[in-house]
Amino acid sequence: QELQLNLEQIEKNGFDHFMLKEIYEQPSAITDTYRGRLLVDDGIIRMAGVDDNLERFLNAKRIVIVACGTSWHAGLVAEYVFEDLARIPVEVEYASEFRYRNPIINSDDVVIAISQSGETADTMAAIKLAKEKGAFVFGVCNVVGSSISRETNAGAYTHAGPEIGVASTKAFTTQITVLTLIALKLAKAKGSISNSDFHMHLRELETIPQKVEESLKSNEHIQKVAFKYKDARNCLYLGRGFNFPVALEGALKLKEISYIHAEGYPAAEMKHGPIALIDEEMPVVVIATRKGHYEKVVSNIQEIKSRQGKIIGIVTEGDTSVRELADYVIEVPDTIEALTPLITTIPLQLLSYHIAVMLGKNVDQPRNLAKSVTVE
Ligand code: G6P
Repeated sequence: QELQLNLEQIEKNGFDHFMLKEIYEQPSAITDTYRGRLLVDDGIIRMAGVDDNLERFLNAKRIVIVACGTSWHAGLVAEYVFEDLARIPVEVEYASEFRYRNPIINSDDVVIAISQSGETADTMAAIKLAKEKGAFVFGVCNVVGSSISRETNAGAYTHAGPEIGVASTKAFTTQITVLTLIALKLAKAKGSISNSDFHMHLRELETIPQKVEESLKSNEHIQKVAFKYKDARNCLYLGRGFNFPVALEGALKLKEISYIHAEGYPAAEMKHGPIALIDEEMPVVVIATRKGHYEKVVSNIQEIKSRQGKIIGIVTEGDTSVRELADYVIEVPDTIEALTPLITTIPLQLLSYHIAVMLGKNVDQPRNLAKSVTVE
């Protein structure tokens, strides 16, 4: 027993929980994931699984992504990235729905299955179904040699290293990294991105680990924000565009480990329902980086404020407009829009972590949840 405890202490490497350790490992996990693939000086992205099947990807009329949980959220981010950069239509499906609804799959479809564990039963069943229908199935898994990585026609591993905390953190950001690399590679091959834009994305992607490191420096500030809102009964997360799936993931993290009810919404949908919930008891986390729909998000924030909602803004460094309106802001470094999810996710992970710790919850092994769900 004692030996077991000591071993766990060593594995946690000085962190109180695996989840916190894994949050802090993200700069190196992302670097490990693009190492050898992202060749900035040569201006190329090398991924054997994609290179060997490039024609299949380029001839695909659409890409269907299947996954569950956090991996499904990574798929949603990928939908925005693929469509924006590579101009290939993407559909993202819960594997559990896909497998039971007689989906229309053609032999020229590319199906991408995303799974940290590589063992999720629903995702596995979706892959088998897609293969039966003649689709080419590409896996994005973290666990080397896992069932899903063996069942797929080709794939690319995330190199996050073992993820022990049930709530997924570094698997999510490394999945987005792999999917972004694929999208950029296809965009280049298709000519849907200009050369200069392509190079700019490569250079910027290389700086992401550094920017994640920067974002982690807000940890103490985030702890204060967590203390303020730890007793909330409900919490709303809003984001737009690339950051809408990040809002969903932020809400999932809070639910999973703190058991506070949370919902993620596209910011503009607020007026179609969630706005009815807003009062002085309701914290609203708004991803409001200075990109794309910034002005629109600021006006959403004004609507929340006028209903006495409490606002926690995730903003770009140096932001002033949101700061004036929000109760708290958490700054993140600037980056190009398609890469913002890799950065804006970090404060949301830390926020839910600290709230759960303050509430005395079992952060690494939340009740009723399993790390890998091998049953239906
Ligand atoms: C479980 C885990 C989640 C994970 C999901 C999908 O619900 O608790 O953290 O996102 O399964 O798992 P996978 O291994 O397929 O990514």
